[in-house]
Amino acid sequence: MKNLLQFFLLFCCSAISGLSISAQQLTNAKKADSVLSLMTLEEKIGQMNQYNDDWLATGPVTIDTDKASQVRKGQVGSLLNCLGTQRVRKWQEIAMQSRLKIPLLFGQDVIHGFITTFPIPLAEACSWDLDAIELSARIAANEASASGINWTFAPMVDIARDPRWGRVMEGAGEDTYLGSKIAFARVKGFQGKKIGNLDAVMACAKHFAGYGAAVGGRDYNSVDMSYRQLWEVYLPPFKATVDAGVATFMNAFNDLNGIPATGNQYLQRDILKGKWGFNGFVVSDWGSIGEMINHGNVGNEYEAAKAAVTAGCDMDMESRNYKNNLATLVADKKVPLNLIDDAVKRILQKKFELGLFDDPYRFCNADREQAALNNPEHARIARQVAAKSIVLLKNNGRLLPLSKETRTIAFIGPLVKPLKQNKGFWDVEVPGVDSNFIVSQWEGLVNKVGKQTALLYAKGCDIEGNDRSGFAEAVSVARQSDVVVVSIGERRDMSGEAKSRSNISIPGVQEELVKELLATGKPVVVLINAGRPLVFNYIADNAPAILYTWWLGSEAGNAIADVLFGDYNPSAKLVMSFPHSVGQVPIYYNHFNTGRPATSDSNHNYNSSYNDLSIYPKYEFGYGLSYTDFEYSNLRFSSNTMKQGDQITVSVTVKNTGKYGGEEIVQLYIRDLVASVVRPVNELKDFKKLALKAGESRELNFVIDREKLSFFSPDPLDGTQMNWIAEPGDFDIMVGASSKDIRLKGRISLLY
Ligand code: BGC
Repeated sequence: MKNLLQFFLLFCCSAISGLSISAQQLTNAKKADSVLSLMTLEEKIGQMNQYNDDWLATGPVTIDTDKASQVRKGQVGSLLNCLGTQRVRKWQEIAMQSRLKIPLLFGQDVIHGFITTFPIPLAEACSWDLDAIELSARIAANEASASGINWTFAPMVDIARDPRWGRVMEGAGEDTYLGSKIAFARVKGFQGKKIGNLDAVMACAKHFAGYGAAVGGRDYNSVDMSYRQLWEVYLPPFKATVDAGVATFMNAFNDLNGIPATGNQYLQRDILKGKWGFNGFVVSDWGSIGEMINHGNVGNEYEAAKAAVTAGCDMDMESRNYKNNLATLVADKKVPLNLIDDAVKRILQKKFELGLFDDPYRFCNADREQAALNNPEHARIARQVAAKSIVLLKNNGRLLPLSKETRTIAFIGPLVKPLKQNKGFWDVEVPGVDSNFIVSQWEGLVNKVGKQTALLYAKGCDIEGNDRSGFAEAVSVARQSDVVVVSIGERRDMSGEAKSRSNISIPGVQEELVKELLATGKPVVVLINAGRPLVFNYIADNAPAILYTWWLGSEAGNAIADVLFGDYNPSAKLVMSFPHSVGQVPIYYNHFNTGRPATSDSNHNYNSSYNDLSIYPKYEFGYGLSYTDFEYSNLRFSSNTMKQGDQITVSVTVKNTGKYGGEEIVQLYIRDLVASVVRPVNELKDFKKLALKAGESRELNFVIDREKLSFFSPDPLDGTQMNWIAEPGDFDIMVGASSKDIRLKGRISLLY
């Protein structure tokens, strides 16, 4: 048997060189079929089983001292959380002792970098810079693949409208259009030219689907939404990953309209593998097959395994329900063998695509690992991406950028000196090496200023707690300075998985510290570090300058210094609405108008407002300042009318009217004025990021086609089927610097 398989694989591997990708895929499918025909049921089920390696876990762990012997028997298809070529090689050697020598896949949450940590995905999304976003995923893939990993559980493409939900930090924010573009870019970045290349890892679109809409922003909570909202708001970023060729999907912890996503046939079989023709495989979320018992739509593990495999979940992450039940389910004729075969074939095909049958150790080259993990070019790019992710929220009196001639600067706050805080949640902790690669905020400033500038430091207070004993020192340091920079925010693990918060104010006494510093009369720049939109009204209303720095990764310190001193002119714009108060949540820009729209904060006369709170966000989606100003003019349409299938070109001129060169993110919004179903007050449908020198102007063009005017509705030709349709009528076309700051507006009509 062994020889037969070896001969077969040798034949296949030598035969594929020079074939096109699709021909290769076909060949891989045939090879997978052939291996499948040699497998016992137990070995097949083994491929559908994924275990955690020992050192890191993101969920309840099953103690299993017998993993090695299970791998040796071919009862495991993949491991996660196994870091470093040495360790990967050790496990792969054990897999090579199995009867059919089917290699293991090694998965890891490579969410925003590997050794080089990039900004958290939410921050990076604020750059609206698709090339930069793709590049950071490319570098992460390069480092991870050099370290033995061939599969990342990223990107998370869940739309998120509720900052109480800790996992907003892991996605691209609240908007579907932007989220889809970013989802596409991230998959391209991780998978590179093609999976199978040594510097590529398989991407995994997660969490399918609806996870970001958890009721109350509580992680793992239920999701209940209309099918229109599902299709229009939550599914398009997933579809974008399929279009980008994503290799795998992960389902989700939540139930969707009463059916757990993990056992949801509509999502996985009908939409993903059916309508979208996805040919990769689906992994469960951590333990989510077994958790269907808690959801209460299955009674025991046997039923859970049946529901998940029937729904199209191909691999079980950590629940062991497949391992313990699939064979009996097949014997009992509750699960047809062809469902198992389909799942295993999908998994084997990816192993072939990765080249693992060819060489199971191809991602285990220790020399390559060393080189990739110490690459200064990666740090240089991480610094640029980090600077592009910083949002300038306020800059009264043009306090920023600071002069490099400033004599004395006080750098105050609990986040000035720490190293690891800058990495944010979901970083990869590689024992012994990671801290060496982090530039603290203090170090960044020290690197930046010359000998003529004195830097003073005081911690002021902790991130949490009521201790004000450091205030006096902080105030004294501030008084001795020309400018105060204060760095406050969340702890890095206050956002992330299982980090939902009902109170999203700045923790502890940090806002009070800023109050005291402002009372000195010195100019104060506030840096806010966080993994989500926070509430900080006192600071927003009273501090002259605010930079929202999120968590910027390894190069945080340098990037912050670049922005503070104008070596990089901030260009980022918010991808989530910032509320005035948690009472406004969920809050998002593309809401409906309602029958009684509120039009101001002073009129509560039987309209859709709060009696005690603004209806507007504190900072809206798409908002962000620059050190320069941009003027928008000359909105023109190639035509004011179009038929289905036609296009209209929208042109606009943007001029940099300020003193600094800078980048502007020009946003195109559309409102469908009258439709058979209610449409949002505006929806982002395109954007362009352009760099302009001081005084320079440029004309930009946007193309409006049927797709940009469409929504998801019962098809007029067949009322039972939902479909994307564009109804004739009038559409407002708005071009602006944010979802609120609309500079130019016109109207077009779609004709009958
Ligand atoms: C998370 C996933 C993650 C997995 C493996 C789960 O708890 O929801 O996003 O990929 O753990 O770490």
